[in-house]
Amino acid sequence: MSIPYAEVIGDPIIQSKSPVIHGLWLRKLGLTGDYRHAHVRAQDLADYIAQRRKDPDWRGCNVTMPHKQAIMPLLDRLDPLAGQVGAVNTVVPVDGQLVGFNTDVDGVAEPLRKLAIVDGAHAYVIGAGGAARAGVVGVAKAGRFVVDVFNRTPEKADPLAVMAGAPGGKARLLADLLPLSGGHYIILNATSMGMGGQNPVPIDLAAFPADTIVFDMVYAPLETPLLAQARAQGLRTIDGLSMLIGQGATAFQRFFGAPPPREDDDAELRALLTA
Ligand code: ATR
Repeated sequence: MSIPYAEVIGDPIIQSKSPVIHGLWLRKLGLTGDYRHAHVRAQDLADYIAQRRKDPDWRGCNVTMPHKQAIMPLLDRLDPLAGQVGAVNTVVPVDGQLVGFNTDVDGVAEPLRKLAIVDGAHAYVIGAGGAARAGVVGVAKAGRFVVDVFNRTPEKADPLAVMAGAPGGKARLLADLLPLSGGHYIILNATSMGMGGQNPVPIDLAAFPADTIVFDMVYAPLETPLLAQARAQGLRTIDGLSMLIGQGATAFQRFFGAPPPREDDDAELRALLTA
């Protein structure tokens, strides 16, 4: 009997947590389906896509490094948000066409939307890579915020500042990570700073108002030095698992046609992912 399946592709791939996420949701919903790791090297990507196109059981794939951009020309169509980010993390066959999505955008927008954040709040996005691009687009999807982009090498992030409509179209130095006088703030770390607990984002959160929201995309460790500082300060925080689970949720619905079970703020899934 053939079983519908989706998978996550990349090189390397065994580190991906997506099979844990989708596997739990499939089991909890009692759906017939499978979700696997698939090790695909760069030179095999075009063959992989050609094969899967012909497979009626394939419901699509998540895409991780190093294929998020390379896969784009192999698809028939891009969702507009994936086009804006310039990267695809989810591919789904839709009416015989392969469509590329970027659900990292939802991983950023979803947890922000759950919080009450006033229009016109300042969103400080830190980074210049693919994660930061998804951050800028995700923040814009979550609300009407004034976005500024910061990076160690500001000129690398200037295109993001343009995309975000930041003042003057210029990214700023990490040393400028300070509040203006007044206002409300979201701080989003989309760099690798804080990974492994090392090299924390150089920011003094004591300078920011008490309603500031601090969002770290890094999830190893789950409590990064940035989030530890934010919690010590009593600020609201969003951790990297929220983003990981949020991007998976939109992908799951596209693969399997049902929303995933998200009760208790994903407590069971979080426990599995941090075991
Ligand atoms: P991704 O595509 O996953 O977002 P990336 O393109 O490698 O990853 O981007 C990494 C980001 O982390 C960049 O913003 C990088 O800053 P630079 O553009 O100046 O290189 C940032 N980054 C990595 N290590 C850093 C460090 N030690 N200090 C400050 N920023 C760092």
